[in-house]
Amino acid sequence: MTIAPVQRTATTAWTDVRLILALEEVVETELNRHLKAAKEWMPHEYVPWSRGRDFDGVLGGEAWSLDQSKVTPLARISLVVNLLTEDNLPSYHHEIASMFGREGAWGTWVHRWTAEEGRHGIAIRDYLLATRAVDPVELERARMAHMSEGFESDNAHSMLQSVAYVAFQELATRIAHRNTGHHSGDELCDQLLAKIANDENLHMVFYRNLLKAALEIAPDQAMRAVADVVLNFRMPGHGMPGFERSAAQIAIGGIYNLRIHHDDVLQPVLRHLKVMEITGLGPVGQHAQDELGAFLDGLNAQATRFDERQAALLARRAAAAAARA
Ligand SMILES: [Fe+2]
Ligand SMILES: [Fe+2]
Repeated sequence: MTIAPVQRTATTAWTDVRLILALEEVVETELNRHLKAAKEWMPHEYVPWSRGRDFDGVLGGEAWSLDQSKVTPLARISLVVNLLTEDNLPSYHHEIASMFGREGAWGTWVHRWTAEEGRHGIAIRDYLLATRAVDPVELERARMAHMSEGFESDNAHSMLQSVAYVAFQELATRIAHRNTGHHSGDELCDQLLAKIANDENLHMVFYRNLLKAALEIAPDQAMRAVADVVLNFRMPGHGMPGFERSAAQIAIGGIYNLRIHHDDVLQPVLRHLKVMEITGLGPVGQHAQDELGAFLDGLNAQATRFDERQAALLARRAAAAAARA
């Protein structure tokens, strides 16, 4: 991981404490905007309780079996990854509360965000269990393993990197939920994940607007932070059991891959903030912007190679399926 070099210009470099104070007013404005934009929704309304029944064990009901699951095999993988990611909320709360504090507008945001994220895990788990979409024993064991590891942010050493990371990560999560819904084969699942994706979008807007303010008050350091985050980006669920294997399926299936990461996550945020058009930077900011530009070009080329491999693989799969039919 690259650690941002400390900028030493005529003015003293911004420390995390100074930045947190300087951004408090922006946080308050964005918090109020968020509270107006966010519409209350009820997770229980998205769960088809009538499709649920007792499991084996204490209640002596029916054990789970694969044929009970009505979502696609790809959605089974992705729903578990998304839920386990949401499940690690206590660790995320710890990370952002330690970084942003629990007082004032920052604190109100941290708690509100945590409450909204909590709803996501509740809703997805209730849906999965009521519809018997995934193996509940495997799910619980994976949750225990994942949460027992905790989550440690790659960016805990830098307030600006923390803000930059969550701006991209919230959008990444939005896209992952949205595309999982599209590939689920169940209209209700699609509706639920659209609702969750909408929350993630509002979270992204909050952090993106904060990052915009940071780029204005500390352009060189903020540019360095954006470059470091983009160059080293990892999904928040990277530590869960079997993540690499699941991520590969999710990529091939078109839920989240390099092309989507480049086109639907990195570029929209960078373009909105006009990151590549910022001028008048000092040497640190200029170097970071150049590095970012070169990285994005490389990533785009890599994504094109991925697109070609994906198309070839899907064509082979289709041909094999046709031969079997
Ligand atoms: Fe979430
Ligand atoms: Fe979120």
